[in-house]
Amino acid sequence: MNILRFTDLCAQDQVRGQRVLIRADLNVPQDEAGRITEDTRIRASVPCIEQALKAGAAVMVTSHLGRPTEGEFKPEDSLAPVATRLAELLGRPVPLIAKWVDGVAINPGEVVMLENCRLNKGEKKNDPVLAKKMAALCDVFVHDAFGTAHRAEASTYGVAQFAKVACAGPLLAAEIDAITRALENPKRPLVAIVAGSKVSTKLSILKSLAANVDQLIVGGGIANTFMLAMGLPIGKSLAEPALVEEAKAVIEMMKARGAAVPIPTDVVVANEFAAMARANKVPVEAVQDDDLILDIGPRTAAELAGIIARAGTVVWNGPMGVFEYDQFAGGTRTLAAAIAHSPAFSIAGGGDTLAAIAKYGIEKDIGYISTGGGAFLEVLEGKTLPAFDILMQRAAA
Ligand code: 3PG
Repeated sequence: MNILRFTDLCAQDQVRGQRVLIRADLNVPQDEAGRITEDTRIRASVPCIEQALKAGAAVMVTSHLGRPTEGEFKPEDSLAPVATRLAELLGRPVPLIAKWVDGVAINPGEVVMLENCRLNKGEKKNDPVLAKKMAALCDVFVHDAFGTAHRAEASTYGVAQFAKVACAGPLLAAEIDAITRALENPKRPLVAIVAGSKVSTKLSILKSLAANVDQLIVGGGIANTFMLAMGLPIGKSLAEPALVEEAKAVIEMMKARGAAVPIPTDVVVANEFAAMARANKVPVEAVQDDDLILDIGPRTAAELAGIIARAGTVVWNGPMGVFEYDQFAGGTRTLAAAIAHSPAFSIAGGGDTLAAIAKYGIEKDIGYISTGGGAFLEVLEGKTLPAFDILMQRAAA
């Protein structure tokens, strides 16, 4: 991908004394008291900020947090807790600037955080007036917000259009490099795991992957719809009967290429969706009318683990079952362990997948963990995200 990279600008000593605006994705989960419950995205933003400071730049960092109403400041929308956490990680103060669109006073060697960029009127609609003001704040704009790379907003797209120099930060570059490595010219067999509650939300991903992968492992409610497509009983499990024909089409697409969608041969069922629900392991043919399928069974999990063990590349999005409850966690746990032990290059993304990775403590055994939720899925769909689109345009100009 032909884009300008911030790392190269730093290596060529082109940012010394320059004003650098970094758009990061610091949209992290918080509890009711506003405490950050998971700080991966903040930690992932540190290398770019440190790189800019080391290169002698005056560094401004901004991000969105949640989906606030533009022009209406509420304390819970503030990046204040994020600035505090970032200061801890950097080991230096990170002052938070509330009003910043019309100018920021800062010297080289300093770093400041610019308050939630979605509070600015015109952010969502990518208002060119706002984007030009942001661009005027800096000499170099660095897009390092992969989690927001699928949004064309003033702080992600317009600013890149109008800034004197616009480039990709190390996180944005690493994300696209890892996904490209996994999907374009991958080491085969290429195995994709696409799980989640609904086929409808991931249909275009399934179709796009069906044209490329060797094994397409489905899980969760998605697998239920595929079982229905194979004429198997699923009781009262979550499924989308209206999408059975689409599921059949995916299976046929894979077959036509000599590839496969492994359909579960056994499942874990219960009569209710509850933490204390009693789990039964049954062959798929034995699922009863009042059963809810809440996980794949041990035989299926072992078969899938074998596929993963022999893979060259694994792309993972979504847990296989309700892994939050131990009695329905076996499928996800087995596949997580298989991915961790497989020699394959693995890439994982999406909120639930990251939660599973954290639960089983396998972070270090995954080749690349994406910070993107929606952005990761859109890349899997084969889309060119707006962030890359504008950076490519700027590099070509
Ligand atoms: C995310 O959490 O997926 C990103 O920060 C994007 O947030 P958004 O869906 O509110 O644009």
